[in-house]
Amino acid sequence: MPWKKALLSCVATFALVTGGWLGYLYLRKPAMAEPWKEKFDPTPERLARGKVLFHHVTHCGDCHSKHDDTRFGRPVWPEAEGIGTPFPAGEDFPGTLTSSNLTPDPETGLGNWTDGEKARAIREGVSRDGRALFPVMPYQDYRWLSDEDVRSLVVFMNTLTPVRNPLPPTKINFPVNLFIKALPQPVGRVPQPDPANRLKYGEYLAHISGCESCHTPMVRGEHDYTRRFGGGREFPGPHRSRVVSANISSDPETGIGRWSAGQFVEKFYQYRKYLEEGSPPVGPEGFTVMPWLGICQWPQEDLEAVYSFLMSQPGVKQAVETHPGS
Ligand code: HEC
Ligand code: HEC
Repeated sequence: MPWKKALLSCVATFALVTGGWLGYLYLRKPAMAEPWKEKFDPTPERLARGKVLFHHVTHCGDCHSKHDDTRFGRPVWPEAEGIGTPFPAGEDFPGTLTSSNLTPDPETGLGNWTDGEKARAIREGVSRDGRALFPVMPYQDYRWLSDEDVRSLVVFMNTLTPVRNPLPPTKINFPVNLFIKALPQPVGRVPQPDPANRLKYGEYLAHISGCESCHTPMVRGEHDYTRRFGGGREFPGPHRSRVVSANISSDPETGIGRWSAGQFVEKFYQYRKYLEEGSPPVGPEGFTVMPWLGICQWPQEDLEAVYSFLMSQPGVKQAVETHPGS
C-alpha cells in the first residue's frame, strides 16, 4: 500500500535527520578562538585590581570557594579560597556540576594552564581542552570584561595559594551536554570603559557583577530581556527553599524607582558591620544568593554609577516576593 511506504519513508527520513543532527551536535566543537599567547605581566596595579574584582565585583569566590551556608551572605572560609567545590545545583539538575579548583595546583587546579587559556575560559566559556563550560559559570556576563580587567583577574588568581583538592569532574547529561556547545563565542578585544562616563561605567559593572543576569527573570532557561532588572529569577536554597531576585528596575511601585542614590548606597553599606563582626546565622527563610558581603565593599561612586544606570533604564512593573513561603 502506497501510504504505508510513504509513512515508512517519512519515519526513515525523520530518523536520519534527527540522527544526523544529533551526530552533528555530538561531533561539533564549540566556537572558540586561539587563547592569547602572552604571559600577563604581574604589575602591582593588576594584582590590586584583580583582587577587588575577584572578591567584590565578579564574585568568583562565591562559587569557587567553600562557604558557611548557615550564615547571612554565605561567608567564604578563608582557607578554602578558590579551591573549588561541588555546586549545589538543585534537585532536577541534569548531571553533576563542580566549580573548579582555581588555585595554581598543577594536578587538581589550573597550575598547567597558560594565562591566555584562563582568560578564554573566563570570558568565552571554553575549558583548556576545548569543552564548553556549563553556563552556571557566568561567562556570558564576563564577555563584557575588558581585556585589562580579565588580565588583572588572572594575575590575581595566579597568586592564590596552590591547594590540592581533587573534585568529581562536571558531567552534564544528554542532551543538555550537546546544547551547551552552542553557547561559547569568541569575544575579541574589549576596551576598558571610562569611569568618568558614569552611565557606561554603571552598565559595565551591572554586567560583570551579575546584577543584570540575576535580576532579569528566566523563561525556559533564557533571560527575558523585556523584563530586564525586573527581578523574579529563582534560585534554589537549602532544604528545598527558594530565594527570588528583587525588582531593581526604575519602576516606582514595584521596583526601586523611589529610592534615592543615598538610600541605595545605604542598603549595601548596612551590611558592612558583618564584615567586622561576622554575619549572623540564618535559616532557610533568610538565605540569599545576593552577594551583599562583596558589593558592600564597593566605593560609593561605583554604587552610584550602577544606581544612575538602573534609573536611566525603563521601569518594569512586576511585584516580586523575594522569600516565598516564609
Ligand atoms: C555562579 C557561580 C560561578 C561564578 C560566580 C564563577 N564561576 Fe567559574 N565556574 C563555575 C562552575 C560551576 C564551573 C564549572 C563548569 C563546568 O565544569 O562545565 C566553572 C568553571 C570555571 C573555569 C574553568 C575551569 C576548568 O577546569 O575548565 C574557570 C577558569 C573559572 N570558572 C574561573 C572563574 C573566575 C575567574 C570567576 C570570576 C571572574 C568565576 N569563575 C566565577 C561557577 C562559577
Ligand atoms: C547571584 C545573584 C545576584 C546577583 C549577582 C545580584 N543580585 Fe541583587 N538580589 C538577588 C536576590 C536573590 C535578591 C533578593 C533577596 C535579598 O534581598 O537578599 C536580591 C536583592 C537585591 C536588592 C534589594 C532590593 C529590595 O527591594 O530590597 C538590591 C538593591 C539588589 N539586589 C541590587 C543588586 C545589584 C546592584 C547587583 C549588582 C551590583 C546585584 N543585586 C547582584 C540576587 C542577586
